Amino acid sequence: MRHLISIDDLTDDDLRYLVETGARYAGANGSHDRPLDGDVVGVYFRRTSTRTRTAFSAGALRLGAQVVTYGPDDLQTNTGETSEDTGRVFARMLDVLVARTAADTAEMRAWAAQDRMAVVNAMSEQEHPTQALADLTTLACHFGGVEKLRVLYVGEGNNTAVALALALSRFPGTELELRTPPGYGLPADVMARAARYAERSGAVVTERHDMGEPPIGQHVVYTTRWQTTGTSKADPGWRDVFAPFQVTTELWKENPEAVFMHDLPAHRGEEVSAEVLDGPASVAFDQAANKMYSAMAVLDWCRDGVR
Ligand code: CP
Repeated sequence: MRHLISIDDLTDDDLRYLVETGARYAGANGSHDRPLDGDVVGVYFRRTSTRTRTAFSAGALRLGAQVVTYGPDDLQTNTGETSEDTGRVFARMLDVLVARTAADTAEMRAWAAQDRMAVVNAMSEQEHPTQALADLTTLACHFGGVEKLRVLYVGEGNNTAVALALALSRFPGTELELRTPPGYGLPADVMARAARYAERSGAVVTERHDMGEPPIGQHVVYTTRWQTTGTSKADPGWRDVFAPFQVTTELWKENPEAVFMHDLPAHRGEEVSAEVLDGPASVAFDQAANKMYSAMAVLDWCRDGVR
């Protein structure tokens, strides 16, 4: 039984295994075993979600598990029961808890302090690890592997960017260039962790806060929406700061072979033009589909060793 709360929790072998297994599920056309037969998976989302919640619910059902879902208004936490007691009860009834809190991961770590129920972070304030697994699964499916890929990330240093930096930097020869608006970059400790992974693997991770001289010859241009789920920006002028970071076809002049990726949901005309999101380079909706296959890989991996 294993938990997945941060990409940092994974060994290099775990990470590679999860990406390869996600790609294998994606290529299996629904033809696979039901390793979660008899398991019960709780899906507890305190924040909105279209993809991740559906990916884990559908993925669990496809692997043979039963699913119990909870929304933000369903639990006795709303009437004063503590989160710790809630976790203790879950752990006596569920085999896996998939949770989106948009809060600090300390709560998930507290739930995970037992050995009965696996806990999966389906997005916290700091990190969106299962998004990175879906992203790398998409790279593996599209390019046949992740090593040596050059990725340009444009936009806020949010929880998707954090997970991407921590995951991609583990793959030899990859280059991740982050272009984040000034004041909206990745946390310094995340850049330091990614730099340590990159030094070990031979990857490169860099960050700039402008869109001057965009890099050339990228395999991927990636962006995310400007208003991450459950967050707001204190600066009333933030849109002016973000405006130069909109992804348009301009970037394809120097990167004609690049695919476009987006974790979705998208706001056409904000972080990306409709021409790019709906254009020939976009793999954003394949990437969304891969969320289910990588969720299946995560669920299978969490329960591996229990069966
Ligand atoms: N990308 C992502 O996490 O989508 P949802 O918020 O719809 O789950």
